Amino acid sequence: MIRIYGFKNTKEAGVSAAKVIAEAIKSRENPTLGLATGSSPLDLYGALIDMYKNGELSFKNVKTVNLDEYVGLTPDHDQSYRYFMDFNLFSHIDILPENTNVPSGIAEDPKAECERYDRLVESLGGVDVQVIGIGNNGHIAFNEPSDSFTTGTNVVELTESTIDANSRFFAKREDVPTKAISMGIGQIMSAKKILLVANGKGKAEILEKALFGEVTPKVPASILRFAKDVVVFADDAALSVIDEKHPGAVIR
Ligand code: GLP
Repeated sequence: MIRIYGFKNTKEAGVSAAKVIAEAIKSRENPTLGLATGSSPLDLYGALIDMYKNGELSFKNVKTVNLDEYVGLTPDHDQSYRYFMDFNLFSHIDILPENTNVPSGIAEDPKAECERYDRLVESLGGVDVQVIGIGNNGHIAFNEPSDSFTTGTNVVELTESTIDANSRFFAKREDVPTKAISMGIGQIMSAKKILLVANGKGKAEILEKALFGEVTPKVPASILRFAKDVVVFADDAALSVIDEKHPGAVIR
């Protein structure tokens, strides 16, 4: 089941999404969070940091698994997803560094790294709440449009559209890695709850296509329609096409 919640701006969406995460943390002894990078979850992470600083939430018992990492970037590279997580969340809260997991982009054998990551997620008992964004082309994590849905962690060849979209963070387009290690769609789907965050007009078309169009691996996020429990937290701009084509679909 998918519930779509709309907010005036990304800050309000982030504060409400943070409450879902806080609830999952407080209601479990050893919660495992699945985390994502990108601009979409930044307000959510900001709200979680505020809750920690206000004494409302502790991450001492929390374990995290991140969705993906670029192949070839070291953890201290400022565009690596490990760096992103440390910089935007982990260094501001009381989570134990050894409880945070991001696939290694510099593993000598990326395939073996994928297998290690699958075993790791399994050993944590799966993911309680999985945060995801959506790419302009409908990708989730780095699972690109394709002829079939991926299952476990895999090495991905990034598409030209993803390299274009992500080149804004690098000095030049040639610096963007062409491969990534990504958790698979099957793994993401097995999370007990999936929290999709999307912001801005640029996501409006693809969000409508994913949540109301045909379920197809050409739009990887469309598979979410078969997930047990999906909540979408988005700003009005990202929901503009859904509002236009499916009046009443958004909870406000
Ligand atoms: C990247 C990440 C995705 C993310 C997407 C959207 O390619 N691998 O996990 O969802 O970008 O990013 P943004 O939130 O910046 O639009």
